[in-house]
This record gives sequence, structure tokens and C-alpha cells, in this order.
Amino acid sequence: TDFDLVVRNARVVTASDTFDCDIGIADGRIVQLGARLGAGAREIDAAGRAVTPGGVDAHCHLDQPMAPPTRNADDFNTGTRSAACGGTTTVIPFAAQQKGQSLRAAVEDYRQRAAGKAHVDYAFHLIVSDPTPTVLKEELPALIKEGFTSFKIYMTYDDMKLDDGQILDVLSVAREHGAMAMLHAENSDCIEWLTKRLEAAGRTAPRFHAHSRPMLVEREATHRAIALAELVDVPILIVHVSGREAVEQIRWGRAHGLNIFAETCPQYLFLTAEDLGIDDSYKGAKCVCSPPPRDKANQQVIWDGLNDGLFTVFSSDHAPFKYDAPEGKKPGGEEVAFRHIPNGIPGLETRMALLWSEGVLAGRMTENRFVELTATGPAKAYGLHPKKGTIAVGADADLVIWDEREFVLKNEQLHHEVDYTPYEGMTLKAWPGVTLARGEVVWDGSFHPQPGRGELLVCGIPTLMPRRR
Ligand code: URP
Ligand code: ZN
Ligand code: ZN
Ligand code: ZN
Repeated sequence: TDFDLVVRNARVVTASDTFDCDIGIADGRIVQLGARLGAGAREIDAAGRAVTPGGVDAHCHLDQPMAPPTRNADDFNTGTRSAACGGTTTVIPFAAQQKGQSLRAAVEDYRQRAAGKAHVDYAFHLIVSDPTPTVLKEELPALIKEGFTSFKIYMTYDDMKLDDGQILDVLSVAREHGAMAMLHAENSDCIEWLTKRLEAAGRTAPRFHAHSRPMLVEREATHRAIALAELVDVPILIVHVSGREAVEQIRWGRAHGLNIFAETCPQYLFLTAEDLGIDDSYKGAKCVCSPPPRDKANQQVIWDGLNDGLFTVFSSDHAPFKYDAPEGKKPGGEEVAFRHIPNGIPGLETRMALLWSEGVLAGRMTENRFVELTATGPAKAYGLHPKKGTIAVGADADLVIWDEREFVLKNEQLHHEVDYTPYEGMTLKAWPGVTLARGEVVWDGSFHPQPGRGELLVCGIPTLMPRRR
């Protein structure tokens, strides 16, 4: 036989093209695209169904240590299982530096956390929370050269946040080495000030989380991040953009010729602040994330940004906490004040199908744009393209064959360890029928576990913009 696997009669969708062909796969890679290819040791008939690149989920949190009793529900095994079953074949979680810890030690810790567990390929973004002279001069440059070419900077959360001077220092390293800096843009002092006032007034139910982080808090920090990037003269990527005010700042920066990239997430398309509660019920804790979901008008602003090129990356920001568990949204088993509710919602498995159903099949987005946002854009942003994120000769055979069928989403269908999905009860129009990861079937309606088959990827320099010469 000519190939290990042939996917026949595919309607291949890439970020730029749609065409009918067979896909010949050998040694985990795509080696030929064309009509009437020779025989494969194994064959799958796509029967004219859409075949897209496997998803690249460039923002998810797996097995990230938290202050006890809080704990991530998913590790590299269950998280990548969930990813594979939802059509995602590459994940980029975070290796977070604790204050006082060396960055190198953080990377080694996460290597161990992932080792032997992942079902799909993974890379790490570094989280720099303690930019000491050693980190800035030695560790970070060395790690970038070793293939850790992106890092997240927090402007809020006491155990993570950097001040403006520190951000400038870290951005300077990104500039010098061509790395991608991701910014969590929310004004920490405003949040703390508002939180104290809400608490003094007894307003501690989950829904007040949204009141503690209004859009201006995100707008101000987004503007400041853009200004800091301009000062250093370096591209940045603003993560989890929630609505109009941050979008306006990014449009302003781009209109002034700055390389400001942006990411958004399903929660800003499909949830609103009302999902955090319309009364003081605790159930809203399930949808507590930062920035919080906004309103219907802001959802439309996000759809517009996805279509017109404002956004480069559509990620889940999967931050998995059980609802009904002391290690999750009820710390110690209690219904706590919103300040103490772990931030984040699950979404690794539902990201692709939500956007294919409500974007492509609902006529809100072209299928090519879908691919760009879910695979090609993130692969380029983080130095994984063209190995990841496209269907081309030489690329890894990471593919999704789509099944169009209507069904009602239920958490029991999902493969994460979280005890809920925020999208319970939504009617979806499609789901990945088959997920291939480097030519291996990891999902075809059943999950084919192979912990340890996923490899740590060495990331190159981002290829979204021309390289400085
Ligand atoms: O609420 C969120 N988004 N939690 C995850 C951590 C982060 O800031 O992305
Ligand atoms: Zn964040
Ligand atoms: Zn996150
Ligand atoms: Zn099977």
C-alpha cells in the first residue's frame, strides 16, 4: 500500500480554500492531497463531509496548582481526552511560575505533570509572575530558545500580577527574542476597590462577580497594555476579550499601526452576565470567569470581531472546576462570597462544535474563517504552523471529519472531569465524527485512549507578522 491511512472523499476546508480530494497519510503526516489516491493500509470514507484541521486550543488550564482546597478538575490525561473527543488535537496550557520560584523549575514541574498522560500533542505558555533579573536575563531567553516562545502576563490576581514596570521588562525580552506576550488585561486595583464596596453592602452572591469587573476595568487595562507594547515596540496578544470596550481599544491600537492581536472564547458568544444569576442563587458560580460574560449586544460585537479579522485566536480558556465539590466552586464545601469562587469555566470539548454549529452552520461565519480562528491562527501565533493548524502536504495529520446532526448537549456526553457544562441543554447541529491525531483515530464516536501518545511540541517564533531582520 502507498499510505498508512487514506481519508477518501473529503471536502477539505483550510483557512483559505475548500476543495474535494483524498488525503494520503504516512508516518503521522499528510503526504499527498489529490483525486483517486492509491490504497492505504487503512481507509476512512469521509463521504463528502467537511474535513478541517484538528483544533489548536491555545488557552486552557490543566493541572495548574491552586491554593488548597481548590484544584483543577482536569489533568493532562482527562483534559486532552476531552479535547480529542471535541476535535482538538493540540492544546497549549500554562506552566505557571509561582512567586519566588525559578521559571526553569516551573517548566520542569509541568513537564512532569504532563509526562505519560497526554492523548494529543501539547505545548506550554509560560506564566511569568516573578520577573527577577535572573528570569529576565537568563531563564526566559534560554527557554525561548528551547521552544517556549510565548508567555502570559497578568495585570490582575495578587499571586500573578505584574506592575507596569515589570510588564515593560518582560515585554522587552519578548521583543528581543521574537516571543509572543499574552496579556490578561483587567485593572486589579479597580476590581479590589469595587469588591470591597460590594462586600460592605452584603452583595456577595456569584452575580456580583460581574459587578466587580465591569467593562471599563477591562478597557483601561487593555488600553494600558497597548500603550506599554507601543513603548517597547513589540506585538502583543490580548487574551479572553469579552466585549465592546476592549474591542474598541484594540481597534484603536491597530488603526495606529500597532501589532495588537486578540483572542476571544465561547463564553463571550454564548453566555451573558445573567448566567451568573438573576437572583442570589449560588448556581451562577458555574459561570464565574474573568472577564465575566457581558450581554447580548456585546456577544454581537464579538461575532463581528471574529468575522472582520480583529480576532486571530478562538480558545476555550478551559479552567476546570467542579461545581458541587469542596475542591471546586464551593471551596471547602461552602457557598462562599464571589471573591472566593475559583474563576473559570470548562470548554475544551465544546469549543469547536459550538463555533461550527452556531458560527458556520448558522450562517454567521464562513467555514474558512472557522478554520483560521480555531486552528491556523493560533498555530501561527504560537510558532506551531505549518506542522499544526492546516491541511497541507507535510503537515501533521491532525484532522476532524464533521458529522452534521442535531442533538441536545448534555454534560454526561462530555469527557472532562467537570460535573457541568455551561452549555447544558443547547441544541447543536454538528459534532466531530472522527478526530485523527497524527494519523491515529483518537475519537470516532468512542474515545481511543492512549495516554502518553501526545508529545511536547517545540514552538518556533510566531509567524503572524514578518520577522524583524
Ligand atoms: O476566569 C478565568 N478566565 N480563569 C482562568 C484564568 C485566566 O485568567 O485565564
Ligand atoms: Zn486570564
Ligand atoms: Zn485562562
Ligand atoms: Zn473506534
